[in-house]
Amino acid sequence: MLQIQQNVSLKNFNTFGVEANASFFAEINHEDELVELFMDPQWQQTERLVIGGGSNLLLINDFEGLVIRINIRGIEHRINHNEVFIEAGAGEVWNDLVNFCVTRNYAGLENLSLIPGSVGASPIQNIGAYGVELKDVFHSCKAFEISTGQFKTFSKDDCKFGYRESVFKSELKGQYIIVSVKLELSLIPDINLRYGAIEQELANRGITGPTIKDVSQVVSHIRVAKLPDPSTIGNAGSFFKNPVITADEFGPIKEKFPEIVNYPAGEGFIKLAAGWLIEQCGWKGKIVGNTGTWKNQALVLVNHGGATGEEVYSFSSQIIDSVYTKFGVILQREVNIIS
Ligand code: EPU
Repeated sequence: MLQIQQNVSLKNFNTFGVEANASFFAEINHEDELVELFMDPQWQQTERLVIGGGSNLLLINDFEGLVIRINIRGIEHRINHNEVFIEAGAGEVWNDLVNFCVTRNYAGLENLSLIPGSVGASPIQNIGAYGVELKDVFHSCKAFEISTGQFKTFSKDDCKFGYRESVFKSELKGQYIIVSVKLELSLIPDINLRYGAIEQELANRGITGPTIKDVSQVVSHIRVAKLPDPSTIGNAGSFFKNPVITADEFGPIKEKFPEIVNYPAGEGFIKLAAGWLIEQCGWKGKIVGNTGTWKNQALVLVNHGGATGEEVYSFSSQIIDSVYTKFGVILQREVNIIS
């Protein structure tokens, strides 16, 4: 039976670990509970926040509305020749799904090991790391349409994936709740070592013909070395997106800063490393009040204990200002700001 609680602390539901209360809170363990919830017209009118692992949000204030925590579980797998179809409930922990696949030699998710968050959040920002994005393995997802109470299946094309982007963040924002995700993996691994540090670490370990288990272990090792563990230091991963600028904009910046880290991002576009830009402005490892940037990765903002959402947000504004002043580049926040 669906229960709606009142005045619930969200501290344990956001990996930044900031204090904020939700006026109303519902945990959804089965997709039918969404139908039941929205049969009551009052929830159609109420401001809503849908959360999974809470690993990509910054809560600035108490949330005067309904928080819906998706906890729909279950992983199903079906093999057809060399293809493996995996369907996972939106509330599954992403890394549990990765481990489920890696231990069975279902290839495709190994580079996405140890990304925090839930399966249901993965298509929303097209999670990506170490040369792979969700869209590379995505088949479809099932989502609940709040206004009609109907379920709809979205194909890969329907999702309009881009770098940390999808239709669920843009034109359909707030209209659907993802309840399950279907992935297309393979029994024949296509080992992706495009991210240099993976090859380096494999060489350090004396591994020449890596398996997907090796790749998963190496990716996990790199993440642990570079990124703070949210269970001990509050954070939400990369706080900003890596900015994509035009080749014309890039020319004068490159002239002034020849060593600038950059990658091709499609015809006429260049992606810059936000972490590098932030470090060049002197922010790496800086502690300001209860917040700061991570000592090994300036793109990650952290809560050193007791930080408020407002404090982290205003610190992020200082970073945006100084990167703009030095490079003329505007950083966009990647984390979902809830105010
Ligand atoms: N760099 C610096 N200083 C820093 C951080 C990075 O100079 O403090 C430089 C690095 O030396 C490197 C470049 O910037 O040359 C890129 O750094 P890194 O490989 O660590 O990756 P990133 O671009 O900072 C992105 C994703 C991460 C993902 C990694 C690995 C975004 C916003 N972030 O970070 O994703 O794990 O690549 O693929 O695209 C996340 O989204 O939360 C996340 C952690």
